[in-house]
Amino acid sequence: MRQLLVTGGAGFIGSNFVRHVLAHTDDQVTVVDKMNYAANAASLDGLPVGRCRLVRGDVADPALVDRLLADHDAVVHFAAETHNDNSLADPEPFLHSNIIGTYTLLEAARRHGTRFHHISTDEVYGDLPLDGTERFTEHTPYNPSSPYSSTKAGSDLLVRAWVRSFGVNATLSNCSNNYGPYQHVEKFIPRQITNILTGRRPKLYGDGRNVRDWIHVEDHSSAVLRILDDGRPGETYLIGADSERSNREVLGILLDLLGHGPDDFDLVVDRAGHDLRYAIDSSKLRGELGWEPKFLSLEAGLADTVEWYRDNPGFWSAAKESTELFYAGRGQ
Ligand code: NAD
Ligand code: DAU
Repeated sequence: MRQLLVTGGAGFIGSNFVRHVLAHTDDQVTVVDKMNYAANAASLDGLPVGRCRLVRGDVADPALVDRLLADHDAVVHFAAETHNDNSLADPEPFLHSNIIGTYTLLEAARRHGTRFHHISTDEVYGDLPLDGTERFTEHTPYNPSSPYSSTKAGSDLLVRAWVRSFGVNATLSNCSNNYGPYQHVEKFIPRQITNILTGRRPKLYGDGRNVRDWIHVEDHSSAVLRILDDGRPGETYLIGADSERSNREVLGILLDLLGHGPDDFDLVVDRAGHDLRYAIDSSKLRGELGWEPKFLSLEAGLADTVEWYRDNPGFWSAAKESTELFYAGRGQ
C-alpha cells in the first residue's frame, strides 16, 4: 500500500485529486497544507479517516518536510500561491511558496529517494496569438508573463535540474485552466457564478476576448494519477481537454444557465500583462499513457459546476465579500 503525500491538498485541485486517489487506489494519503486563504478544510470533509489525514504546515519548512518525506513513498506537489491578480498585488508569497517551497521538497526527495510529481501550469509558456491555431507542446520555450507564472516556471526548472544533477525520480505536468467543485471564488468561473447568485453583475476583464483552454478538475486528477503511476522519469506531460473558449463565450454559457440575458455583465479594467490565449496539445500524454478526458462537453461540465455552487453556499459565502472588496479596490 503506497504512502502518498499530497501538498496543497486542501486547495481546489489538490482536494479533488485526493478524492480521486481515495476512490481509485488503495493509497494512504497525507495532505500537507499551510491552510492559506484559498484552502478550505471543508473540501476534505467526509473522507475516510483511516486513509486520509491533514497536516497543517508550510512546504518551505525544511524540518517538517524532511519528517514527512521520510515516511512517504511518493509526493504529488500541488501547493502554491495560484492567483495571477494576487501576484500582481503582492508577489512575495509566490516566491516563498512556489520557489522556496519546491526547492525544500526537492532537497528532501533527494535525501529520501522519494518519487516526486510536480504540478505546473501552461502559463509557463506565456501566451499565443488570439486568432492562431498553434498550441503549446512539451517543446515550447518558457516565456512566463506574470509574477505567478514566472515563479511556476522557476519551480519547473528546479525540478528539471534536480532530476539531471541529483537523479531525483521526478515527473512534471503542465495543465490548462481547471474548473469544477471546490474552487475559490477569486477565480473566473466561480466568481461569475457567485456574483450572479448574490445579485452582483459578472465582471469581464478588458474586452473579454482572451481565450483559455478549459479542463474539468476530475480529468486533471485522472491524468496526474496516470503520470504518477506510469510516467517516464524526468519527463514532462502537458494536460488538456481541447476546450478553448473566449472569456465572453464562457460567461455567455453561465448567464444562460443562470437565466440571465447575454449582455448582463460589466466590462472592467483589464489585468496588467493579460495573457491572450492558452491552448494545449496533449498528444504525448494520450499517445504514451493512453489517457483521455471524460468531460467532453464544457457546457455540461459548467452546468454541473453551477449546480454545485448553488447547492454549497457554505463552501464559498464566507470568502465572497472580502474577495469582492479586493477586486473593487482594483477597479475589477
Ligand atoms: P489553490 O490556490 O486552490 O490551492 C493551493 C493550496 O496550496 C492551498 O490549499 C494553499 O493553502 C496551499 N499552499 C500554498 N502555499 C503553501 C505552502 N507554502 N505550504 C503548504 N501549502 C501551501 O490552487 P489550485 O488551483 O488548486 O492549484 C494547485 C496547483 O495546480 C498549483 O500548483 C497550480 O499552479 C497548479 N495549476 C492550477 C491550475 C488551475 O486552473 N487552477 C491549472 C494548472 C496548474
Ligand atoms: O492556465 C492555468 C492557470 O489558470 C493556472 O495556472 C492558475 O493557477 C489559474 O488561476 C488560472 O489562471 P488564469 O489567470 O487563466 O485564471 P483566472 O480564473 O484568474 O482567469 C481566467 C480568465 O478570466 C483570464 O483571462 C482573466 C479573466 N477574468 C478573471 C476574473 C477573475 C475575468 O475576465 N474576470 C474576472 O473576474
